[in-house]
Amino acid sequence: MKIAVTGKGGVGKTTLAGGLARLLADEGYNVIAVDADPDANLASSLGISEEEMAGVVPIADMKELIAERTGSQPGTFGTYFKMNPKVDDLPEALSRMHKGVRLLVMGTVKEGGGGCVCPESVMLKALLQHLLLAREDMVILDMEAGLEHLGRGTAGAVDAMIVVIEPGMRSVQTANTIRRLASDLKVQKVFVVLNKVQDSREEELVRGRLDGLPYLGSISYNQNIRLSDLEGTSPYDADPAFVAEVKAIKEKLFRELGF
Ligand SMILES: Nc1ncnc2c1ncn2[C@@H]1O[C@H](COP(=O)(O)OP(=O)(O)OP(=O)(O)O)[C@@H](O)[C@H]1O
Ligand SMILES: [Mg+2]
Repeated sequence: MKIAVTGKGGVGKTTLAGGLARLLADEGYNVIAVDADPDANLASSLGISEEEMAGVVPIADMKELIAERTGSQPGTFGTYFKMNPKVDDLPEALSRMHKGVRLLVMGTVKEGGGGCVCPESVMLKALLQHLLLAREDMVILDMEAGLEHLGRGTAGAVDAMIVVIEPGMRSVQTANTIRRLASDLKVQKVFVVLNKVQDSREEELVRGRLDGLPYLGSISYNQNIRLSDLEGTSPYDADPAFVAEVKAIKEKLFRELGF
């Protein structure tokens, strides 16, 4: 199963992506967690310390590897390079394993102007396509904030897109944006998770306004999540209540997808 976690800035995408990845690994699945946010912090949400991540270079910044695989010269532009670089060994070679989760940090391509096709972006795209289409693993993508980053190729290849929202009027607007975007991108399965819920009345009010968007469940506002974020540790290791909520969400997702 391939799952993309999306939503606006700061809603809890990384918290949920990390929790889901750890849970699925504990349940015995092979899990690949992909940090697709340029401001990468999925590692700490998985419980990987800053020290352990110290030497990790995002794949987009691996100039020599990209040059070797695409046949391009580093730093040059507009020259010929392969559009189908070999990537199938990279998930194993470049990932960091932690508690059964393989973490891949993608990094970003600084494109000068829209729609540039450069060796870096070709590599990342090829790797993502490989992960989504050729791997048997559970793949969890932690996306950059905003709903527009899920490109057509990616969106079409994921089994489920989970949109995290927070309680509030704006979450209802977000839900409508999601609906539009999902039909534009031809994503079959879009689900909502409500995060930072403070009481059940709040959840009821938001659910009532989702207007048919499938709802997977909620995660309570939880001070331990905040504290573990400050400590750089995983909320999955810090709070069984969080784990139980993630488990309920995962089970609903599996039921919805007939998995
Ligand atoms: N249920 C919760 N209760 C309390 N704090 C939470 C909860 N979920 C997330 N947070 C906190 O909110 C902040 C943002 O969470 P997180 O990094 O998961 O969001 P994000 O959507 O990935 O953000 P970004 O858009 O920056 O990538 C963090 O400090 C996190 O600890
Ligand atoms: Mg994040």
